[in-house]
Amino acid sequence: MKKVMIVATGGTIAGTGKAGKTIAYRAGEITVDEIISSTPIIKNIAEIETCQLMNVDSNEINTQMWIELANKINEIVKDDSIDGIVVTHGTDTLDETAYFLTLTLNTDKPVIMTGAMRPATATSADGPFNLYQAISLAVSPQAMNQGVMCLFSNTIYSGRDIQKVSNYKIDAFDHKNFGCLGYMQDEEVYFFTTSFKKHTIHSLFSKLPLTALPLVAIAYFYAGASASILYHLAKDHQGIVLVGSGSGNYNHEWMMAIHDLSQKGIIFVRSSRISRGIVFDDEIFDPYHDCIPANTLSPQKARVLLMLALSQTVDKKHIRIIFDEY
Ligand code: SIN
Repeated sequence: MKKVMIVATGGTIAGTGKAGKTIAYRAGEITVDEIISSTPIIKNIAEIETCQLMNVDSNEINTQMWIELANKINEIVKDDSIDGIVVTHGTDTLDETAYFLTLTLNTDKPVIMTGAMRPATATSADGPFNLYQAISLAVSPQAMNQGVMCLFSNTIYSGRDIQKVSNYKIDAFDHKNFGCLGYMQDEEVYFFTTSFKKHTIHSLFSKLPLTALPLVAIAYFYAGASASILYHLAKDHQGIVLVGSGSGNYNHEWMMAIHDLSQKGIIFVRSSRISRGIVFDDEIFDPYHDCIPANTLSPQKARVLLMLALSQTVDKKHIRIIFDEY
């Protein structure tokens, strides 16, 4: 039987509230061992070891905790007896952690993230089934060298492209543009596509010691937005991800401020507040080529990549290549 290590971080999958109810609960209350004991079928799929690394609502997770998690998993995968890893995590910021791990884990072993939309105490809690499928995926030979993946409601997503699209339904995730990687039916795995972007063992960032990340902020554009927010953020951030309208657009005031701050060394990435589509270079909104386009990355994922890129270089040409490759 294969062996899976579950690294638990908290979230609604470990949440408790009023018996049977789905609202007004606290995330990160019960241990991963308690979750497993409510799902005995898991023991038929794999030998399980657990590591309760933290037990928090994922809104409490910060960059230092990402580093702690990545370093822990990079240590665990060195153990030849471990065949795969499952990370339990809150759904609110799972997309950010998933992309961070995609870029920083130095392993071709399956690493599967999962969680739940309903707390463990709810009627029809979704956590146990997601965990059972995540473990099944983690022992599948098909999951080797696919990068970090996420499993929710019978559906396999990539760590790069997963995003939360519902704050209400248990089928709460989607890929920004590309559907999903595959599906599951109970423990059966069906892949239909793969991610062509660099990940895990192919990622530059998975070979580096991780200690701290440079500060990068996100600035959201709206009708009539003043550029003062950009000047304010530039005081203590090395990079700013712009969340523009449409194709990553903004007004003339922002355009001039971006040019000014860019000449002072701030690195800008242009993303969009529209959840689907792609942001390319744009002669009209970025006539001085001050910004790097986020391509298909969401603003929060573009921030993850910009932080890692800035930890290696401040050369905009090099960062642009990184954004094309990852
Ligand atoms: C959290 O992200 O920790 C709370 C919400 C959830 O897990 O669904």
